[in-house]
Formats: sequence, structure tokens, C-alpha cells
Amino acid sequence: MEIRALLIEEMQDQYDAEKQLVKALPKLVKASSNPELSHAFAAHLEETKGHVERLEQAFEILGVRPKAKPCAAMKGLVEETQEWLAEKMPDEVQDSAVICAAQKVEHYEIAGYGTMCAWAAALGLNDVESLLRETLDEEKAADEKLSLVADQILAEAGVLNGKAPAKTRSAGSQRSGY
Ligand SMILES: [Fe+2]
Repeated sequence: MEIRALLIEEMQDQYDAEKQLVKALPKLVKASSNPELSHAFAAHLEETKGHVERLEQAFEILGVRPKAKPCAAMKGLVEETQEWLAEKMPDEVQDSAVICAAQKVEHYEIAGYGTMCAWAAALGLNDVESLLRETLDEEKAADEKLSLVADQILAEAGVLNGKAPAKTRSAGSQRSGY
């Protein structure tokens, strides 16, 4: 298989992955307790719709019909997110769990787009590369935003710097008799 064919196949994988995310992200917007987290997912949903469009533009430049190849990895990552949402846990803990799953999604995309950019550049497909790079930059920014919100959530829950949340602390105190 040639690099050009690899690029097209990976674009088909990501095309499906992005479409899965357009369906999954509204659930995360609703399920997030932290307003900043909900806002971050809503903003990334709009960006993700743009990622689908950019891939369509890239397919057009390459002269191939946009086709989605079922992305099993994204299906699994989305399922993991839903498993966290189905479990009963305190709001801030659930938000943290969902961020963990969402960052796995972002890293999957960053890996895919990073490689696709390198392939497009190697093939001298500058227009395709710049489309893919715009999306790559948005995925990286989304990942960084999630890290920031994750820290905020942990700080609000009182678990940063080794401090346990208030509830856990008092339960622990009772158990150990202090
Ligand atoms: Fe994306």
C-alpha cells in the first residue's frame, strides 16, 4: 500500500470517529455537572462538526468520495465514557472520570491527525496538510482545556496537593478514631 492510500484510509477512520463524536458530545454536555466542563464539551461539539467538514474538503482535494470506515477504537472510547456515566458517584468524581475518557479520545485524534499531517506533508499535499493541521491544533487546545478544567474540579473538590475531599476526610477520621 502506498502512503497516499494510507492517508485516505486513515482519513476514512477519522471521518467515522468525528461523526461518532458529533453524536456522543451532546450527551457529555448534558451529563457534566461542572458548568465549565459542559461549556468545553459544547464548544468542542461545534469544532467537531467543523472537523467533519474539513475532512470532506480534504477528500475533495484528493478527488475521492468522502467515505467513513467504521472506527472500532472510537466506538470503544465512547463506550468507556458511557460506562462512567452509568456508574453512581459524586458529581465531581464523575466529571473527573468523564474528562479521563474524553482526553483518551483527544489523544487518539491527536495521534491520527499528527500522522496524517506528516503523510500529507511528505506527499507535498499542502492544502490537505493545512486543513488537517487546523483540526490537529483544535484537538490539542481541547485537550489542554480539559486538563485545566480537570485541575479546577479537583481543586474545588479539595483533592489537589494531597488534600482529600472533606467528606472522605471526616469518614476517615471517624474510622481511625481521631
Ligand atoms: Fe475532532
